[in-house]
Amino acid sequence: MRRILVTGGAGFIGSHFVRRLLREYSEYEVINVDKLTYAGNRDNLRDVEGEPRYRFVLGDICDRQLMDELVREVDAIVSLAAETHVDRSLLGADAFIRTDVHGTYVLLCAAREHGIERFVYVSTDEVYGEAPEGYSSSETDPLQPRNPYAASKAAADMLCLAFFASYGLPVVVSRGSNTLGPCQYPEKMIPLFVTNALRDEPLPLYGDGRQVRDWLFVEDHCEALDLLLHKGAVGEVYNVAADNYRHNIQVAEAILELLDKPHSLIRHVEDRPGHDRRYSLDWSKIRALGWAPRCGFDEALAKTVAWYGDNESWWQKARSGAYQEYYQRQYGWRLEAAARQEGEQ
Ligand code: NAD
Ligand code: TYD
Repeated sequence: MRRILVTGGAGFIGSHFVRRLLREYSEYEVINVDKLTYAGNRDNLRDVEGEPRYRFVLGDICDRQLMDELVREVDAIVSLAAETHVDRSLLGADAFIRTDVHGTYVLLCAAREHGIERFVYVSTDEVYGEAPEGYSSSETDPLQPRNPYAASKAAADMLCLAFFASYGLPVVVSRGSNTLGPCQYPEKMIPLFVTNALRDEPLPLYGDGRQVRDWLFVEDHCEALDLLLHKGAVGEVYNVAADNYRHNIQVAEAILELLDKPHSLIRHVEDRPGHDRRYSLDWSKIRALGWAPRCGFDEALAKTVAWYGDNESWWQKARSGAYQEYYQRQYGWRLEAAARQEGEQ
Protein backbone atom coordinates (compact mmCIF):
# COMPACT_ATOMS: atom_id res chain seq x y z
CA MET A 1 0.00 0.00 0.00
CA ARG A 2 1.50 3.34 -1.00
CA ARG A 3 -1.13 5.79 -2.16
CA ILE A 4 -4.11 6.59 0.00
CA LEU A 5 -7.16 8.66 -0.87
CA VAL A 6 -8.63 10.35 2.20
CA THR A 7 -12.01 11.99 1.70
CA GLY A 8 -13.01 14.84 4.02
CA GLY A 9 -9.41 15.41 5.08
CA ALA A 10 -9.95 19.13 5.66
CA GLY A 11 -12.44 18.40 8.44
CA PHE A 12 -11.85 17.63 12.10
CA ILE A 13 -10.93 13.93 12.23
CA GLY A 14 -9.78 13.83 8.60
CA SER A 15 -7.11 16.49 9.12
CA HIS A 16 -5.62 14.63 12.10
CA PHE A 17 -5.75 11.39 10.12
CA VAL A 18 -3.96 12.86 7.07
CA ARG A 19 -1.24 14.26 9.32
CA ARG A 20 -0.88 10.90 11.05
CA LEU A 21 -0.46 8.98 7.75
CA LEU A 22 2.23 11.40 6.55
CA ARG A 23 4.01 11.25 9.91
CA GLU A 24 3.87 7.48 10.49
CA TYR A 25 4.51 6.21 6.94
CA SER A 26 7.36 8.00 5.21
CA GLU A 27 6.73 6.10 1.96
CA TYR A 28 3.01 6.93 1.71
CA GLU A 29 1.46 9.51 -0.58
CA VAL A 30 -1.82 10.99 0.54
CA ILE A 31 -4.47 12.61 -1.63
CA ASN A 32 -7.04 14.57 0.33
CA VAL A 33 -10.26 15.27 -1.55
CA ASP A 34 -12.56 17.69 0.20
CA LYS A 35 -15.43 19.91 -0.90
CA LEU A 36 -14.58 22.52 1.74
CA THR A 37 -18.10 22.89 3.07
CA TYR A 38 -18.57 25.20 6.07
CA ALA A 39 -16.91 22.44 8.17
CA GLY A 40 -13.84 21.99 5.96
CA ASN A 41 -10.86 24.24 6.50
CA ARG A 42 -7.51 24.13 4.70
CA ASP A 43 -5.90 25.87 7.67
CA ASN A 44 -6.28 22.55 9.51
CA LEU A 45 -3.45 21.13 7.38
CA ARG A 46 -1.33 24.24 6.64
CA ASP A 47 1.66 22.53 8.26
CA VAL A 48 1.74 19.76 5.62
CA GLU A 49 0.80 21.86 2.56
CA GLY A 50 4.40 21.97 1.31
CA GLU A 51 4.97 18.22 1.79
CA PRO A 52 5.60 16.60 -1.66
CA ARG A 53 3.81 13.39 -0.57
CA TYR A 54 0.61 15.32 0.09
CA ARG A 55 -1.91 16.63 -2.43
CA PHE A 56 -5.12 18.52 -1.80
CA VAL A 57 -7.92 18.25 -4.34
CA LEU A 58 -10.95 20.50 -4.07
CA GLY A 59 -13.86 18.26 -5.03
CA ASP A 60 -17.11 16.56 -4.21
CA ILE A 61 -17.39 12.83 -3.52
CA CYS A 62 -20.65 12.89 -5.51
CA ASP A 63 -18.65 13.75 -8.67
CA ARG A 64 -18.23 10.34 -10.32
CA GLN A 65 -15.78 11.52 -12.95
CA LEU A 66 -13.47 13.06 -10.36
CA MET A 67 -13.76 10.01 -8.09
CA ASP A 68 -12.81 7.78 -11.05
CA GLU A 69 -9.75 9.90 -11.73
CA LEU A 70 -8.62 9.87 -8.11
CA VAL A 71 -9.48 6.27 -7.22
CA ARG A 72 -7.58 5.05 -10.29
CA GLU A 73 -4.43 6.53 -8.72
CA VAL A 74 -4.64 4.97 -5.27
CA ASP A 75 -4.34 1.65 -3.41
CA ALA A 76 -6.75 2.42 -0.58
CA ILE A 77 -9.53 4.79 0.45
CA VAL A 78 -10.40 6.12 3.88
CA SER A 79 -13.82 7.68 3.66
CA LEU A 80 -14.52 10.47 6.15
CA ALA A 81 -16.28 13.08 3.97
CA ALA A 82 -19.75 13.66 5.35
CA GLU A 83 -22.26 16.11 6.64
CA THR A 84 -21.87 15.44 10.33
CA HIS A 85 -24.02 17.56 12.62
CA VAL A 86 -27.22 16.08 14.06
CA ASP A 87 -28.84 19.47 14.73
CA ARG A 88 -28.30 20.60 11.13
CA SER A 89 -29.75 17.31 9.86
CA LEU A 90 -32.86 18.03 11.94
CA LEU A 91 -33.19 21.45 10.30
CA GLY A 92 -32.93 19.87 6.82
CA ALA A 93 -31.33 16.64 5.63
CA ASP A 94 -30.89 17.15 1.85
CA ALA A 95 -27.12 17.58 2.04
CA PHE A 96 -26.87 14.55 4.35
CA ILE A 97 -28.67 12.27 1.94
CA ARG A 98 -26.67 13.65 -0.97
CA THR A 99 -23.17 13.44 0.53
CA ASP A 100 -23.43 10.73 3.17
CA VAL A 101 -25.56 8.30 1.18
CA HIS A 102 -25.14 9.10 -2.53
CA GLY A 103 -21.54 10.33 -2.18
CA THR A 104 -20.51 7.11 -0.43
CA TYR A 105 -22.27 5.10 -3.15
CA VAL A 106 -20.34 6.99 -5.85
CA LEU A 107 -17.07 6.29 -4.06
CA LEU A 108 -17.94 2.60 -3.69
CA CYS A 109 -18.73 2.36 -7.42
CA ALA A 110 -15.42 3.99 -8.33
CA ALA A 111 -13.58 1.66 -5.93
CA ARG A 112 -15.29 -1.37 -7.44
CA GLU A 113 -14.46 -0.29 -10.97
CA HIS A 114 -10.80 0.45 -10.41
CA GLY A 115 -10.00 -2.12 -7.73
CA ILE A 116 -8.42 -1.17 -4.42
CA GLU A 117 -6.77 -3.00 -1.55
CA ARG A 118 -8.88 -1.50 1.23
CA PHE A 119 -11.88 0.79 1.69
CA VAL A 120 -12.27 2.04 5.26
CA TYR A 121 -15.64 3.62 5.92
CA VAL A 122 -15.75 5.86 8.99
CA SER A 123 -19.19 5.31 10.46
CA THR A 124 -20.50 6.28 13.90
CA ASP A 125 -21.98 4.86 17.10
CA GLU A 126 -25.15 6.82 16.28
CA VAL A 127 -26.19 4.15 13.76
CA TYR A 128 -27.21 1.86 16.66
CA GLY A 129 -29.59 4.39 18.13
CA GLU A 130 -29.65 4.94 21.87
CA ALA A 131 -28.31 2.24 24.19
CA PRO A 132 -30.42 1.43 27.26
CA GLU A 133 -28.76 1.96 30.64
CA GLY A 134 -26.36 -0.89 31.37
CA TYR A 135 -26.16 -2.03 27.72
CA SER A 136 -23.34 -1.62 25.19
CA SER A 137 -24.00 -2.03 21.46
CA SER A 138 -21.98 -4.67 19.66
CA GLU A 139 -21.12 -4.87 15.98
CA THR A 140 -23.76 -7.50 15.23
CA ASP A 141 -26.64 -5.48 16.72
CA PRO A 142 -29.32 -4.18 14.36
CA LEU A 143 -28.99 -0.56 13.27
CA GLN A 144 -31.73 1.66 14.67
CA PRO A 145 -30.78 5.25 13.80
CA ARG A 146 -33.13 7.89 15.20
CA ASN A 147 -32.15 11.16 13.51
CA PRO A 148 -31.51 12.02 9.84
CA TYR A 149 -27.72 12.24 10.27
CA ALA A 150 -27.59 8.83 11.95
CA ALA A 151 -29.91 7.37 9.31
CA SER A 152 -27.78 8.68 6.44
CA LYS A 153 -24.65 7.23 8.06
CA ALA A 154 -26.42 3.90 8.65
CA ALA A 155 -27.48 3.79 4.99
CA ALA A 156 -23.90 4.36 3.82
CA ASP A 157 -22.51 1.92 6.39
CA MET A 158 -24.85 -0.79 5.08
CA LEU A 159 -24.08 0.04 1.45
CA CYS A 160 -20.40 -0.55 2.23
CA LEU A 161 -21.16 -3.94 3.77
CA ALA A 162 -23.42 -4.77 0.82
CA PHE A 163 -20.57 -4.00 -1.61
CA PHE A 164 -18.42 -6.47 0.30
CA ALA A 165 -21.10 -9.17 0.25
CA SER A 166 -22.15 -8.58 -3.37
CA TYR A 167 -18.87 -7.77 -5.08
CA GLY A 168 -16.14 -8.69 -2.61
CA LEU A 169 -15.05 -5.05 -2.27
CA PRO A 170 -12.49 -5.06 0.59
CA VAL A 171 -14.46 -2.87 2.95
CA VAL A 172 -13.81 -2.30 6.67
CA VAL A 173 -16.28 -0.26 8.72
CA SER A 174 -15.43 1.61 11.92
CA ARG A 175 -18.19 2.86 14.23
CA GLY A 176 -16.63 5.47 16.46
CA SER A 177 -17.95 7.29 19.50
CA ASN A 178 -18.11 11.06 20.12
CA THR A 179 -14.72 12.49 19.35
CA LEU A 180 -13.03 15.58 20.82
CA GLY A 181 -9.85 17.48 20.10
CA PRO A 182 -8.35 20.48 18.28
CA CYS A 183 -9.85 21.76 14.99
CA GLN A 184 -13.43 20.59 15.57
CA TYR A 185 -15.90 23.03 14.05
CA PRO A 186 -17.61 24.94 16.87
CA GLU A 187 -21.09 23.54 16.31
CA LYS A 188 -20.58 20.24 18.17
CA MET A 189 -21.08 20.39 21.91
CA ILE A 190 -17.50 20.59 23.19
CA PRO A 191 -16.06 23.23 20.82
CA LEU A 192 -19.32 25.19 21.02
CA PHE A 193 -19.27 25.24 24.80
CA VAL A 194 -15.54 26.02 24.99
CA THR A 195 -15.76 28.94 22.56
CA ASN A 196 -18.97 30.27 24.16
CA ALA A 197 -17.30 30.13 27.57
CA LEU A 198 -14.24 31.94 26.20
CA ARG A 199 -16.66 34.68 25.04
CA ASP A 200 -18.56 34.66 28.37
CA GLU A 201 -21.69 33.57 26.51
CA PRO A 202 -24.22 31.01 27.80
CA LEU A 203 -23.70 27.27 27.21
CA PRO A 204 -26.97 25.94 25.74
CA LEU A 205 -27.45 22.54 27.37
CA TYR A 206 -30.28 20.51 25.85
CA GLY A 207 -32.96 19.27 28.25
CA ASP A 208 -31.80 18.07 31.64
CA GLY A 209 -28.19 17.59 30.49
CA ARG A 210 -28.21 14.01 31.80
CA GLN A 211 -27.63 12.43 28.38
CA VAL A 212 -24.55 10.22 28.23
CA ARG A 213 -21.80 10.18 25.63
CA ASP A 214 -18.53 8.22 25.55
CA TRP A 215 -15.69 10.60 24.61
CA LEU A 216 -12.77 9.56 22.42
CA PHE A 217 -9.69 11.74 21.82
CA VAL A 218 -9.16 12.46 18.13
CA GLU A 219 -5.59 11.06 18.09
CA ASP A 220 -6.88 7.79 19.54
CA HIS A 221 -9.66 7.66 16.95
CA CYS A 222 -7.07 8.16 14.18
CA GLU A 223 -4.81 5.45 15.59
CA ALA A 224 -7.78 3.07 15.44
CA LEU A 225 -8.50 4.01 11.81
CA ASP A 226 -4.83 3.47 10.97
CA LEU A 227 -4.98 -0.03 12.50
CA LEU A 228 -8.18 -0.85 10.59
CA LEU A 229 -6.65 0.36 7.33
CA HIS A 230 -3.73 -2.02 7.76
CA LYS A 231 -5.05 -4.89 9.89
CA GLY A 232 -8.85 -4.77 9.88
CA ALA A 233 -10.49 -7.89 8.46
CA VAL A 234 -12.39 -7.16 5.26
CA GLY A 235 -16.17 -7.27 5.49
CA GLU A 236 -15.96 -6.60 9.23
CA VAL A 237 -17.25 -3.82 11.46
CA TYR A 238 -15.29 -2.50 14.46
CA ASN A 239 -16.66 -0.35 17.25
CA VAL A 240 -14.19 2.30 18.43
CA ALA A 241 -14.73 3.89 21.84
CA ALA A 242 -13.00 4.75 25.09
CA ASP A 243 -15.30 4.07 28.07
CA ASN A 244 -15.04 7.78 28.94
CA TYR A 245 -18.70 8.12 29.89
CA ARG A 246 -19.90 11.55 30.98
CA HIS A 247 -23.25 13.25 31.36
CA ASN A 248 -23.37 16.35 29.18
CA ILE A 249 -23.75 18.53 32.25
CA GLN A 250 -20.53 17.09 33.67
CA VAL A 251 -18.74 18.03 30.44
CA ALA A 252 -20.14 21.58 30.59
CA GLU A 253 -19.03 21.95 34.21
CA ALA A 254 -15.56 20.57 33.50
CA ILE A 255 -15.09 23.07 30.64
CA LEU A 256 -16.11 25.98 32.88
CA GLU A 257 -13.77 24.82 35.61
CA LEU A 258 -10.82 24.55 33.21
CA LEU A 259 -11.50 28.10 32.02
CA ASP A 260 -12.24 29.43 35.50
CA LYS A 261 -15.72 30.58 34.43
CA PRO A 262 -18.88 30.44 36.57
CA HIS A 263 -21.34 27.50 36.34
CA SER A 264 -24.07 30.12 35.95
CA LEU A 265 -23.12 30.25 32.23
CA ILE A 266 -24.96 26.92 31.81
CA ARG A 267 -28.47 27.42 30.34
CA HIS A 268 -30.89 24.52 30.17
CA VAL A 269 -32.67 25.01 26.84
CA GLU A 270 -35.40 23.18 24.90
CA ASP A 271 -34.17 19.70 24.01
CA ARG A 272 -33.10 18.40 20.59
CA PRO A 273 -36.02 16.43 19.10
CA GLY A 274 -35.49 12.65 19.23
CA HIS A 275 -32.39 13.21 21.36
CA ASP A 276 -30.62 9.89 21.93
CA ARG A 277 -30.24 9.53 25.68
CA ARG A 278 -27.16 7.38 25.79
CA TYR A 279 -24.55 5.85 23.50
CA SER A 280 -22.35 3.01 24.60
CA LEU A 281 -20.22 0.64 22.56
CA ASP A 282 -18.70 -2.73 23.26
CA TRP A 283 -15.28 -2.26 21.62
CA SER A 284 -13.69 -5.58 22.63
CA LYS A 285 -13.30 -6.55 18.96
CA ILE A 286 -10.84 -3.76 18.11
CA ARG A 287 -9.16 -4.23 21.48
CA ALA A 288 -8.45 -7.85 20.44
CA LEU A 289 -6.91 -6.49 17.22
CA GLY A 290 -4.42 -4.52 19.31
CA TRP A 291 -5.90 -1.05 19.88
CA ALA A 292 -6.78 0.76 23.07
CA PRO A 293 -7.22 4.48 23.65
CA ARG A 294 -4.27 6.25 25.24
CA CYS A 295 -5.84 9.49 26.38
CA GLY A 296 -8.26 9.71 29.32
CA PHE A 297 -11.15 12.17 29.32
CA ASP A 298 -9.61 14.78 31.64
CA GLU A 299 -6.40 14.94 29.64
CA ALA A 300 -8.26 15.03 26.32
CA LEU A 301 -10.55 17.82 27.50
CA ALA A 302 -7.65 19.84 28.93
CA LYS A 303 -5.71 19.54 25.64
CA THR A 304 -8.79 20.54 23.66
CA VAL A 305 -9.66 23.53 25.83
CA ALA A 306 -6.03 24.70 25.74
CA TRP A 307 -5.98 24.48 21.93
CA TYR A 308 -9.08 26.67 21.56
CA GLY A 309 -7.59 29.11 24.08
CA ASP A 310 -4.43 29.35 21.96
CA ASN A 311 -6.16 29.51 18.57
CA GLU A 312 -8.74 32.22 18.87
CA SER A 313 -8.33 33.44 15.28
CA TRP A 314 -9.16 29.90 14.02
CA TRP A 315 -12.47 29.72 15.86
CA GLN A 316 -13.41 33.39 15.47
CA LYS A 317 -13.19 32.87 11.70
CA ALA A 318 -15.26 29.68 11.95
CA ARG A 319 -17.90 31.50 13.98
CA SER A 320 -18.32 34.36 11.52
CA GLY A 321 -20.60 34.73 8.46
CA ALA A 322 -23.14 31.95 7.89
CA TYR A 323 -22.38 30.48 11.33
CA GLN A 324 -24.18 33.41 12.91
CA GLU A 325 -27.36 32.63 10.95
CA TYR A 326 -27.17 28.98 11.97
CA TYR A 327 -26.55 29.91 15.59
CA GLN A 328 -29.51 32.26 15.64
CA ARG A 329 -31.80 29.68 14.06
CA GLN A 330 -30.71 26.88 16.36
CA TYR A 331 -30.27 28.75 19.64
CA GLY A 332 -31.92 32.20 19.36
CA TRP A 333 -35.41 31.12 20.45
CA ARG A 334 -34.09 28.50 22.83
CA LEU A 335 -31.99 31.02 24.75
CA GLU A 336 -34.81 33.60 24.72
CA ALA A 337 -37.26 31.04 26.12
CA ALA A 338 -34.75 30.02 28.82
CA ALA A 339 -34.23 33.68 29.79
CA ARG A 340 -38.02 34.24 29.95
CA GLN A 341 -38.42 31.20 32.17
CA GLU A 342 -35.65 32.40 34.47
CA GLY A 343 -37.32 35.83 34.72
CA GLU A 344 -40.61 34.20 35.72
CA GLN A 345 -39.02 32.25 38.58
P1 NAD B 1 -16.34 17.36 9.88
O1 NAD B 1 -17.72 17.87 9.70
O2 NAD B 1 -15.39 18.09 10.76
O3 NAD B 1 -15.64 17.22 8.46
C1 NAD B 1 -16.27 16.69 7.33
C2 NAD B 1 -15.43 17.03 6.11
O4 NAD B 1 -16.06 16.47 4.95
C3 NAD B 1 -15.29 18.54 5.87
O5 NAD B 1 -13.96 18.88 5.61
C4 NAD B 1 -16.16 18.77 4.64
O6 NAD B 1 -15.72 19.86 3.84
C5 NAD B 1 -16.04 17.45 3.91
N1 NAD B 1 -17.17 17.18 3.01
C6 NAD B 1 -18.49 17.31 3.28
N2 NAD B 1 -19.22 16.99 2.19
C7 NAD B 1 -18.33 16.64 1.23
C8 NAD B 1 -18.47 16.18 -0.11
N3 NAD B 1 -19.68 16.04 -0.68
N4 NAD B 1 -17.35 15.89 -0.81
C9 NAD B 1 -16.12 16.04 -0.25
N5 NAD B 1 -15.93 16.48 0.99
C10 NAD B 1 -17.02 16.76 1.74
O7 NAD B 1 -16.52 15.85 10.36
P2 NAD B 1 -15.68 14.98 11.42
O8 NAD B 1 -16.23 15.23 12.76
O9 NAD B 1 -14.24 15.12 11.16
O10 NAD B 1 -16.16 13.53 10.99
C11 NAD B 1 -15.45 12.81 9.98
C12 NAD B 1 -16.14 11.47 9.77
O11 NAD B 1 -16.15 10.75 11.00
C13 NAD B 1 -17.60 11.61 9.35
O12 NAD B 1 -17.88 10.64 8.39
C14 NAD B 1 -18.37 11.36 10.64
O13 NAD B 1 -19.65 10.82 10.37
C15 NAD B 1 -17.47 10.37 11.34
N6 NAD B 1 -17.54 10.38 12.82
C16 NAD B 1 -17.39 11.55 13.51
C17 NAD B 1 -17.45 11.53 14.91
C18 NAD B 1 -17.30 12.79 15.72
O14 NAD B 1 -17.57 12.77 16.94
N7 NAD B 1 -16.87 13.90 15.14
C19 NAD B 1 -17.61 10.30 15.59
C20 NAD B 1 -17.74 9.12 14.83
C21 NAD B 1 -17.69 9.17 13.46
P1 TYD C 1 -22.96 16.68 19.60
O1 TYD C 1 -21.62 17.25 19.87
O2 TYD C 1 -23.86 17.37 18.64
O3 TYD C 1 -22.72 15.17 19.15
P2 TYD C 1 -23.80 13.95 18.99
O4 TYD C 1 -25.13 14.51 18.72
O5 TYD C 1 -23.20 13.29 17.81
O6 TYD C 1 -23.72 13.14 20.23
O7 TYD C 1 -23.73 16.54 20.96
C1 TYD C 1 -23.17 15.86 22.07
C2 TYD C 1 -24.20 15.88 23.17
O8 TYD C 1 -24.34 17.24 23.60
C3 TYD C 1 -25.58 15.43 22.73
O9 TYD C 1 -26.19 14.70 23.79
C4 TYD C 1 -26.33 16.72 22.49
C5 TYD C 1 -25.69 17.67 23.49
N1 TYD C 1 -25.67 19.10 23.08
C6 TYD C 1 -26.18 20.09 23.93
O10 TYD C 1 -26.67 19.80 25.05
N2 TYD C 1 -26.16 21.38 23.51
C7 TYD C 1 -25.67 21.73 22.29
O11 TYD C 1 -25.69 22.93 21.96
C8 TYD C 1 -25.13 20.72 21.44
C9 TYD C 1 -24.56 21.05 20.10
C10 TYD C 1 -25.15 19.41 21.88
